[in-house]
Amino acid sequence: MTVIKLVVGGILPYITLVVFLWGIIYKIRKWNKAAQGKMTLYPTPSTPGGKWRKIIKEILIFQSLFKGNRALWGGTWIFHASLALIFIGHFRVVTDFPILWRALGMGKDDVDTFSATVGGIAGLIILVMGIYLLFRRMVIQRVKEISDGEDYFTLGLILAIIISGDIMRFITHFDLVQSREYFAALVTFSRVSVPADPAFLVHFFLGQLLIIYIPFSKFLHIPGAFYSKSIIYQE
Ligand code: HEM
Repeated sequence: MTVIKLVVGGILPYITLVVFLWGIIYKIRKWNKAAQGKMTLYPTPSTPGGKWRKIIKEILIFQSLFKGNRALWGGTWIFHASLALIFIGHFRVVTDFPILWRALGMGKDDVDTFSATVGGIAGLIILVMGIYLLFRRMVIQRVKEISDGEDYFTLGLILAIIISGDIMRFITHFDLVQSREYFAALVTFSRVSVPADPAFLVHFFLGQLLIIYIPFSKFLHIPGAFYSKSIIYQE
């Protein structure tokens, strides 16, 4: 256990940070150097600023997917919206925001209840949607044909992260004080006490794998969307 804690909590986070930042910078520099020819596949937005309005709309509500496939749009949108909520909620894993809670007139109990409700619901919804997206690939013949090993690997990895996160949320009731102390020590290069909850260690390990994998995988569609859409929707 001590070795696992040392590797997952003491060494891997620094490797994750370096590989992730290097990978993202490398990819963005590559995109910036790539030829960005004017494409005329789509009608040009006529109003000034129309291009960015379209890009933001596409990123927030997946407009073209909505027009193309309503069922997939529903599953995908709910999945990403829950992911966004969970991402915001994870700030509390690292630190707390007493000034913000005071400004909102919320006491510790209110914040904990709010976080447990929203985090818990988002954690369950994303689990159901993740399973739906996986089954869709396995069952619908047309989708099955265009799915490769990487698609299954990424969905499997995300599902394993979600399940271990939900285990902490609903079964082991992970105490966030442990992770806050841990991260405070990690960023100040002090002796870290890595939380011993096995669900935390699995979740954190897989989460870091995901972060390392992002720059080199299809997950890079997140920042990539801004690039591709800005080429497609020329002003
Ligand atoms: C790698 C850094 C990560 C750390 C340190 C971390 C840590 C945690 C912790 C401590 C919890 C329990 C929260 C609580 O019970 O209050 C949790 C829950 C959860 N995590 Fe993570 N996590 C990480 C990455 C991720 C990623 C990348 C995903 C999604 C793909 C994810 C999805 C979830 C889900 C679905 C839950 C349960 C619902 C919730 O509490 O929000 N986590 N995580």
